Order: sequence, then structure tokens, then C-alpha cells
Amino acid sequence: MYVCLCKGITDRQVEAAIDEGATTLGKLRKALGVASQCGKCGVTTREILTGCLAATPDKSPAPFYAAA
Ligand code: FES
Repeated sequence: MYVCLCKGITDRQVEAAIDEGATTLGKLRKALGVASQCGKCGVTTREILTGCLAATPDKSPAPFYAAA
């Protein structure tokens, strides 16, 4: 399904980018251009991101306060 009509980005492309390490909306924007024009796809993109990160907790970005 298309997530971003402005850029023609599908949910599979978003999921693939998450698998490759784009674990924030900003990283997805940079990698794919999603939510970079009208922004209407931001909510759906974030829902996909949240679902993917919940399914694979090891991909969640470390909290900023975590020790390295
Ligand atoms: S629908 Fe994604 S930026 Fe417009």
C-alpha cells in the first residue's frame, strides 16, 4: 500500500528501510523522503515504525541516557 503519495513510497519500502537501520521518523525521511512534502503520511509512517520496532525490540534506538 502507498504510504506517501507525494513521493510514491510504499509500506514495504518503509519496512525495508527500518530493517536497514532507519529507526526514527527523521531517518526514514532522510532515507526515503517520506513526510518531506505535505507531511500527511507522517502519522502512518510513525505507526509502521512503531509496529516494526515493537516486533523487533533489538532495533529500537537506545535511550539517550543509556550508557554505552
Ligand atoms: S504524502 Fe508523504 S509527504 Fe505528502
